[in-house]
Amino acid sequence: MSLMTTPAPWCRAVVTGGAGFLGSHLCERLLDSGVEVDCVDNLLSGSEGNIAHLEGRPGFRFVRCDVSSDAVIGHLPGPYDLVLHFAWPRSPADCLRHPLETMDVGSLDTRNALALAHRDGARFLLASTSEVYGDPLVHPQREDY
Ligand SMILES: NC(=O)c1ccc[n+]([C@@H]2O[C@H](COP(=O)([O-])OP(=O)(O)OC[C@H]3O[C@@H](n4cnc5c(N)ncnc54)[C@H](O)[C@@H]3O)[C@@H](O)[C@H]2O)c1
Repeated sequence: MSLMTTPAPWCRAVVTGGAGFLGSHLCERLLDSGVEVDCVDNLLSGSEGNIAHLEGRPGFRFVRCDVSSDAVIGHLPGPYDLVLHFAWPRSPADCLRHPLETMDVGSLDTRNALALAHRDGARFLLASTSEVYGDPLVHPQREDY
């Protein structure tokens, strides 16, 4: 399925971490492709400024909510075709500042995002990091590393 080139007004996506660096660009690109987007973020490391230009666009909705909370499911009635899970306090500084939230995001957040996808039969995408492979031997890492 080509998300980026095919207008898909029938498609509804939820982007967790949607007010972050990657999530906000993804929300914009999806909207440009005709996808309805629910952007979910607790603004732990993101900013409303990242999505200010999207407010008021048809099909865009910002839901300020912690994805680690069970309540998130109730805030997101859907149904969704895509669950795109980008919530994460990405920078090492943010992880150190928020150690408990960082643990939650890797477990509870992912479980809740998966529960959403399971509820609606949606496709699920998790943004991970090359850090999971340990200290890299080359910088910058290529896609085939
Ligand atoms: N930026 C990159 O170059 C890059 C490269 C590869 C992978 N990634 C991965 O992509 C994902 C997003 O990266 P990013 O650079 O956009 O990070 P970011 O910190 O800019 O955005 C993450 C967003 O998640 C939100 N968030 C954190 N915990 C949350 C929670 N419990 N509930 C709701 N929202 C929450 C933050 O407020 C923030 O807006 C991360 O998993 C990262 O590891 C990023």
